Parts: sequence; structure tokens; C-alpha cells
Amino acid sequence: MQRNQNYFVQELIDWFSKAKRDLPWRQTRDPYKIWLSEIILQQTRVEQGLPYYERFIDHHPDVHSLADSNEKDVLKLWEGLGYYSRARNLHATAKFISKELNGTFPNNYQNLLQLKGIGPYTAAAIASIAFKESTPVVDGNVYRFASRYFGVFDDITQSATRKTFESLLRDIIPSDRPDDFNQAMMEFGATVCTPSPNCDQCHFTQSCFAYQQKAQNQLPVKTKKVKVSEEHLNYLIFEHSGKYLLHSRTEGIWKGLYQFYLIRSKEEQKELLNKYDGKVTMESEIIKHILTHRRLWVKFVTIEIHEAKSFKNLSKELGLHPFSLEEMLNLPRPKVIVNYLQQAVN
Ligand code: ADE
Repeated sequence: MQRNQNYFVQELIDWFSKAKRDLPWRQTRDPYKIWLSEIILQQTRVEQGLPYYERFIDHHPDVHSLADSNEKDVLKLWEGLGYYSRARNLHATAKFISKELNGTFPNNYQNLLQLKGIGPYTAAAIASIAFKESTPVVDGNVYRFASRYFGVFDDITQSATRKTFESLLRDIIPSDRPDDFNQAMMEFGATVCTPSPNCDQCHFTQSCFAYQQKAQNQLPVKTKKVKVSEEHLNYLIFEHSGKYLLHSRTEGIWKGLYQFYLIRSKEEQKELLNKYDGKVTMESEIIKHILTHRRLWVKFVTIEIHEAKSFKNLSKELGLHPFSLEEMLNLPRPKVIVNYLQQAVN
């Protein structure tokens, strides 16, 4: 078994040396850059994440620059990636490292784990890639590849299962190349041992449990289904003389992002129209928008308010702020609003 494991590790690292994608965060040991890339890659695939990474590094080449930025600008750089608390944590942790730690990253797994927004996955990725600590990473790709190769049937939706995989991988991670090993595991899961796997391109079929047992489709074991809730959002876009009313959300998944006024009922729309003397100038279809835990049904109604005075009173009453079209497009907004405005202004 020992011999087989050595063979597996060697083959995997050889494969990675040849097949690895040339990515900017692989040209560096800077923990700031590695941290940033890993946070982005938890949200999206490499191809989509790359332009986000490059934009962040362009704007904020080091942790002090990110720390000195404001949350609104960080959310703008993150716009479209979803799960905006990651961006808020990124900013909070940059501030902490810049101000409290004088810009020096903690250099080991345990201390990295203390930082806001850094969980076992990110701590292991930074510790191994930036500091060569032998801590295995476990993400969705690793669960898939390792469960199939080693034949592990533990349910990956149970949090205790992480420990099983970490312990298995801790036994084989090579102390001289923990960085390459971890990245190779993730890369193999992302490109070869995919949900519908490319076994014809795989080097490991001879020793792969799932291949030998034809159990690729049973692994990894995932019992809990993601619960998806349905939500209806009806936005009113108040407009007067080239200005639009928005406010920044103070809570929930879109905290810090800007949106139009949300109504609870059609009656509320009527009342506002009467009270502030407006007319409906545009009404969208109902737009379906899928998030991880929600299915949104979103409608936009544009209302022109005739009088400047009414517009001002309305914005006061509803806690909204006026923005020109250009200003509005520069605000961080939920993707469904970005998409809607993109097609509405074109
Ligand atoms: N997915 C997330 N981080 C990765 C990395 N560093 N290498 C390969 N795949 C990844």
C-alpha cells in the first residue's frame, strides 16, 4: 500500500507539472495574492475568476492598498461573483493584517484559521502554497477525486467527513511539495475527475477504486440536497430628469450592494404613484434568476416622477438617493440588476 501511495503521489505531481494551467497566482509565493486567488476560486471557476483576480491586483497590488480601499469599491470589484460576504470579509481581514499585523500574514495553518473569512480550506491552501506547510486542502474537487480514487463512501455533506479526507491526505502529502500536491489534487478534480469523469484521459484507472468497481457515479456520496427557496422581488425604478433612486442594502446576502426600491404589493405601487404623481414608463417581464439557495422572480417597473419636489420628498420618505445613469452603473449592484440595466440602457 505504501508503495502504491508513493506511486500515486509521484504520478499526480508529474501530471501536474505537465498539465497545469499557467496562472498568475502560480508565479508567486506572496500570501496576499494566493489568499485573494483562493477566495475568488471558491466562488467561480478559473476561467471566470481570472479577470476578477487581475482587476483586484491592478487596483490593489498589496494588502495595505486593499485595506485602505473602501467597502463599496471592494464590492464593485467583486460584483457578479455572488456571496458578497466573502468580499466584505476579504476587506475586513486586509484591514486587520495591514493595521494590526503590520502587513505580515500569519505563516501557518492554525494562525491563518483565526482570520475572518479564512476557513480550513483557505488556511490550508495559503499555508501549503505560500509557506510550504504540509496541510492538505479539501474542496469539492478534492472530495470527488479522492472519494473515487480511494473508495471513500462517507457523506461529504456532513461536516465531520472533512476530517476523514484530511486525515487520509495528510498521510500522503509529500513534505517537500505540499503546494504542488494540493494544487494537483484540485486541478485533477477540476479537469479530469469531473462530475462526469474523463476516465479515458486518466492515469490512475488501474488503481482507482471507482473505475475498477464502476462506481464513478456513486461517488462522492452526497445525501443532503441544497434547499432552494422561491422569492418574488418587485423593484420600482423612480426616475426624474436623468436621476434614479437607489439605496444600499443594510442586511442579508446583498448587504452593501445598491438596489432600487422594493415593494411588497401592487397596492403600494399604486399608492406611491398617486401620492407622488408619477407614471409607469416601462415594465419588464418577470425575470428568473438562480442563486445557490434561492430562485428569484424579479420584475422592474420604471416610474417617471413629474415634479422635482415630489421626487425629493419621495426619496426622503423611502430612504433613497438620486444617482445619474453613469453614477448608477458604477455602484456595486446585485447581478440581476446589472443584467437588467445592461439590456435596458442598450
Ligand atoms: N481551485 C482553487 N484553488 C486552486 C488552485 N490553487 N489550483 C487548482 N485549482 C484550484
